Parts: sequence; structure tokens; C-alpha cells
Amino acid sequence: MASYLQIADDEKGHELDLFCVPRHYENDLDKVIIPHGLIMDRTERLARDIIRDMGGHHIVALCVLKGGYKFFADLLDYIKALNQNSDKSVPLTVDFIRVKSYCNDKSTNNVRVIGGDELSSLSGKNVLIVEDIVETGRTMQTLLSLLSECNPKMVKVVSLLVKRTPRSSGYRPDYIGFEVPDAFLVGYALDYNEYFRDLSHICILNDQAKEKYKV
Ligand code: IMP
Ligand code: MG
Repeated sequence: MASYLQIADDEKGHELDLFCVPRHYENDLDKVIIPHGLIMDRTERLARDIIRDMGGHHIVALCVLKGGYKFFADLLDYIKALNQNSDKSVPLTVDFIRVKSYCNDKSTNNVRVIGGDELSSLSGKNVLIVEDIVETGRTMQTLLSLLSECNPKMVKVVSLLVKRTPRSSGYRPDYIGFEVPDAFLVGYALDYNEYFRDLSHICILNDQAKEKYKV
């Protein structure tokens, strides 16, 4: 079982005015739940755990866009640092796919995969899927079943966040940064209808903002 940093349901978070938050979002957020610095520290350790398990063979890091892009970039920087400062190192290549399953603050049953190289190029590789958040688990399960048709040597999934929710299918990633309460989170590339990716910290969106940015 993957270990993770647990954010409790009654976590009070931090007042917004203790951190730098863009003016245009000040009225949309309740609290800072995971400050950017803590995300970075946890990511550094995930990089170490991943290299320990996967570092024997060429790794293809597969970024699940758009929400995964910040975590992907920071995680790969830490993996690169390990690779260039140790006697053992492996080539690391990257690919990007886009998956869409969300409308407003609800996960839908319709999971669509768009873009990326031909998945067949992953045959025989160690594939690391990098995701922002697992909620029901449907997105990841869909992606994993598509990937398995391409016969990769190994597939591991790292998700920065996993939501504690009764809507979960029971799916758990191989590596988890934080387990978070069943609330809608934004920031650090997690969005609400494309807003809030330009926010460094992970925050809880308030109900007023859900209305304001609704499509
Ligand atoms: P799942 O298929 O229900 O596991 O949902 C996974 C996808 O839904 C993630 O990749 C996110 O893009 C999106 N998602 C789920 N919860 C949140 C959230 O709290 N904030 C932002 N996006 C979310
Ligand atoms: Mg995602």
C-alpha cells in the first residue's frame, strides 16, 4: 500500500492572507489547504520512491493534461536531479495525453483521451502515468485498460492527490502525494472550468465561486 500524507476532514487550513494569492481569486477561495512549499517537499520524496522502484530501465513519463502539468514538471525536475547526481541513471522521455471527464464540479461517466504519440510506442517501456487527482478512479482505470493493450514492460501511476470519497471505485494509484477530503480543490494546475490553474497553492473553492465560474 502506498503511503501518503493525510489531510484530515476537519483540517482547518490556512488563512488566505498569510500567503500570496492572486487578487482576482481572493473572494473565490475559503482556505489554503496545501501550501506550494509542502507540495514541493512531498514531490521530492515521491521522486525518490519512484526511482527506487522504476530506475532500472528507460522510463516514459506520461503527463495527463491539463491538471497534471505542474506536478509533472516539478516531479520530473526532482527525478532529473536524482539521475544526474547518482552513479546509476536511466533515460527519461516524456509524452502528453489529454483526458476530459469533468463538467462544473462533477465527474462524468464519459472519459475521453485526446492526443499524445501512438500508445504503441510504449510497448516494452516502463511507463509512469502522472496525474493530478484521483476521485472516482474512472479516468485512471480507463487509461490503464487502454495502455495494457500496448504491452508496456511496467506501468506505475503517481497521483499528487487522492480524494476520500464514497464515489471511489476502490482504485488506488501506486504512489500518492496526499489524501484529501471530499471537497472541490483548485490550484497548482487543478482547475474549475479552466480557472485557478494560475494559483500556486491548493485551496478549497467556495460555493459562491462555483456559481460564478459555472458553464
Ligand atoms: P475521476 O475519473 O473521478 O477519478 O476524476 C479524475 C479527474 O477529475 C481528475 O484528473 C481531475 O481532472 C478531475 N477532478 C476530480 N476532482 C477534482 C477536484 O477536486 N478539483 C479539480 N479537478 C478534479
Ligand atoms: Mg486530471
